[in-house]
Amino acid sequence: MDTPSAKSLMDDVAAILSADLRGTAIRDLDTPVPLVDVEIAERNIVRWQAQCDRLGVANRPHMKTHKQPLFARRQIAAGAIGMTCQKLGEAESMVAAGVTDIFITYNIVGASKLARLAALAQKATVSTVADSEAVVAGLAAAFADAEKPLTVLVECDTGGNRCGVQRPEAAVSLARMIDRSPGLHFGGWMTYPPPGARLASDRFFEQANALAGDAGLVVERISSGGTPDMWSTLGLERVTEYRAGTYVYNDRSRVEKGICRIEDCAITVLATIVSRPTPDRAIIDAGTKSLTSDLIGLNGYGSIIGIPGATIPRADEEHGYVQFVEPRDDLPVGTQLRILPNHACVISNLFDEVCLVKGETVLGMTPITSRGRVR
Ligand SMILES: Cc1ncc(COP(=O)(O)O)c(C=O)c1O
Repeated sequence: MDTPSAKSLMDDVAAILSADLRGTAIRDLDTPVPLVDVEIAERNIVRWQAQCDRLGVANRPHMKTHKQPLFARRQIAAGAIGMTCQKLGEAESMVAAGVTDIFITYNIVGASKLARLAALAQKATVSTVADSEAVVAGLAAAFADAEKPLTVLVECDTGGNRCGVQRPEAAVSLARMIDRSPGLHFGGWMTYPPPGARLASDRFFEQANALAGDAGLVVERISSGGTPDMWSTLGLERVTEYRAGTYVYNDRSRVEKGICRIEDCAITVLATIVSRPTPDRAIIDAGTKSLTSDLIGLNGYGSIIGIPGATIPRADEEHGYVQFVEPRDDLPVGTQLRILPNHACVISNLFDEVCLVKGETVLGMTPITSRGRVR
């Protein structure tokens, strides 16, 4: 990792931001724009690292929430062992920014991606997952002649009903195949359990470990993740590393589920009222292209900070519909509103840049370099 930060995000921020916007008031920013409060993000990073240290669990944050080196660097400087990426393109961008240890928690399929993975593995320590013989076969072919073997963990479905082998027996059978493949190294188990399912995933790993032991396989890593259960110690005994993503910024969905407080949310979207068609309705310049259409089970497209009862029940691409509980004549066209987004990670994917702030002070813009890396 090049020039990791030693003290806090503020040190890194000072080094990378251009002077253009420094000292600008938030009200002078052009909207819509995402704001990230670096002091809140710093608190979130340090607090979680301390918990990982207390529990003896390696911290491998998922970069999906911030999608940029500034925060990855800080997470690593604070003690994280490396980053988790979902897509190969995200991994490439993180390695280009100096991250030296990457875990790609996604089946890599197809000749083009396998060739890119092999190239990436020459530049950094890379591990990945597989949940089928087809995926292992592709990896094995791509790494057959590699100088160093690729570490592959078996993805296990422990209740998330997404990817993953369904039974401990299948996990061990795939582990055997990885172990037999010359270019591959069996690394252990990976899961992304749904909230509240840690004990079920622990039972899965207990059985898988016993079967792996019988087969003479060493399970080096058991990688779990997710912000919702990150503070629970239930079912963590066998887990060796944890992948949390959202915790760095937090968002409305975390607040509404009681996982964090509103003061723990680093990201907001600043929008401007562009129309007041009726006394109880305003239209803002942030629609689904700024807030996303991701409701993740919540009502509305975000919550408006400081205006009790106001909702965003509807959004078109460029228009957000704000509904007040009573007529408001104190919020004319031009008024800025700060919105706590439903889901932090998808906001980072929508904008080229994020504006870093410290309280009410603007620090400057920083590019979201890993956004849009879907391949
Ligand atoms: C494989 C994997 N690991 C970890 C995470 C991080 O989850 P969270 O943002 O809840 O911390 C995600 C989120 O989508 C994920 O898909």
